[in-house]
Amino acid sequence: MAKRRIARLDGRVSITNDATWWRSAVIYQIYPKSWADADGDGFGDLAGIRTRLGYLARLGVDAIWLSPWYRSPQADGGYDVADFRDIDPIFGTLADAEALIDEAHDLGLKVIVDIVPNHTSDQHRFFQEALASEPGSPAWDRYHCVRGADGGASPPNDWTSAFGGPAWDPVLDADGQPTGWWYLHVFDSAQPDLNWDNPEVREEFLDTLRFWFDRGVDGFRIDVATGLVKAEGYPHSGGGEEDRYPYWDQPGVHEIWREWRRVANEHQPPRAFVGEVWVGSQEAFVAYLRPDELHTAFNFDHLKCPWDASALRGVVERSLHAAGQVSAPSTWVLENHDVPRVRTRYGMEAAGARMPHANTAPPPDVVPDDARGLARARAGLLFMLGLPGSAYVYQGQELGLPEVLDLPAEVRQDPAFRRTGGAEGYRDGCRVPMPWTRQDHSFGFSPTGASWLPMPADWGELSVEAQLGDPGSMLELTRDALRIRRREPALGDGDLGWISEPDDPCLVLRRPAEETDPHVLVAVNMGEAPALVEATEVVLSSGRDPAPGRGGFWLPPDTAAWLR
Ligand code: NOJ
Repeated sequence: MAKRRIARLDGRVSITNDATWWRSAVIYQIYPKSWADADGDGFGDLAGIRTRLGYLARLGVDAIWLSPWYRSPQADGGYDVADFRDIDPIFGTLADAEALIDEAHDLGLKVIVDIVPNHTSDQHRFFQEALASEPGSPAWDRYHCVRGADGGASPPNDWTSAFGGPAWDPVLDADGQPTGWWYLHVFDSAQPDLNWDNPEVREEFLDTLRFWFDRGVDGFRIDVATGLVKAEGYPHSGGGEEDRYPYWDQPGVHEIWREWRRVANEHQPPRAFVGEVWVGSQEAFVAYLRPDELHTAFNFDHLKCPWDASALRGVVERSLHAAGQVSAPSTWVLENHDVPRVRTRYGMEAAGARMPHANTAPPPDVVPDDARGLARARAGLLFMLGLPGSAYVYQGQELGLPEVLDLPAEVRQDPAFRRTGGAEGYRDGCRVPMPWTRQDHSFGFSPTGASWLPMPADWGELSVEAQLGDPGSMLELTRDALRIRRREPALGDGDLGWISEPDDPCLVLRRPAEETDPHVLVAVNMGEAPALVEATEVVLSSGRDPAPGRGGFWLPPDTAAWLR
């Protein structure tokens, strides 16, 4: 195991252990299209990211995860990759990516990039070669090209696409006539699924991993990590929930991750994986985290958890128990580029509606209780950063950005919106560009004021400029929390002990579990009345300062705190 290293940077102290940094890292997700635009075309780019890396170092995160930056027609926000070893021109060049990786490292930031092995773009060389050949050819064998039912007139089975409609599109001949063969796409038609039984597909990805590892990438976020292997013979789904379809979580997928792990281990220090693993049970989930498979996976149970103390306690307990069975750290995540912003989700709940966690239309006619939504978003973040394991912060979460609910249909880009006639596909609302400054058009996102999605007129007040130095802002709360988390050996990796009783509406836990000095108490009050937390000192609070009481402090509702 590599030695602990203490790096000093702008007065911040970072204690990293190069081999196991991913066990406790706070990882900031950048959606490149929406973070910072340097060339003024209204799309974020790598040059923009490079100019703002200092912001992240000062924020105090340990690593960045970049959503796909590869060459792509952007049919699904870059999750439709045309070339895994080149950068899309809207983002820059390969040289920009290399410079970005080096500069991030100089600032003490690890770099994780997205990889999308389940499918390619229809513009990928593999698919273009398939289209230029006959069904049944070796080029088509890299995809799932299957003879249709009813003499070829209907799709081979009843599988549906996660973005709406059938999961099969007809393969056409050179004259545009149906061939009777169909290709599989679990997502958009422009994202054909790869056939992982094909050795060339496997090799292509192993080479791609090495290509980026050789350029210094510290790890990969693996898109759709449960989807690569489809049930043999393409059986009918038999209806039911789409997330149980026989194209998810097939046993053969684990061998792929074992092979990838071996490649990660070829490098020094070993590189790390975080999987996008949506599965039905904890048992199935931890199978992906066995010591020879993926290092970590997103904890979507945490993301889906409502603002409810017993539900959250249950998620924390089950997550730690499950991860512990395979000696993996748990992860924590409240936001990403696929789900509505947490401020709005919690605000909807406070207004009596449940905001679906992904993809579907927001409940009509419900106005979120924004004040409570923001208070809970702040509390949720502080509580999360006090839990054992690694945590994800999605760009703008540190500013408390709300979901943009009123984007007009004509600007929406989510392919599911088009495929379902507006019934689903609402992911653009969390992808609206970052506001950096108070005044300018597009609030400093772009020098020309352009932005690929319109930004709400009042976002200047949520900008980085407006929040920096304001002790009451969510940005300063995040910075304080990250600074303290780095200095407190009890936070990050490790264990916890519960102080609150199972049915308490105020969760209180101790880090570490054992009664030691030093320790930190992590508390969140999800009840309706102030709760007394026994402690001698408040280290940090997400809301109004807890008032001193007998032997402790009164934590207001919708508030989290770190105490001693
Ligand atoms: C999950 C990604 O997070 C999402 O944005 C994408 O649309 C699908 N996978 C398909 O790649």
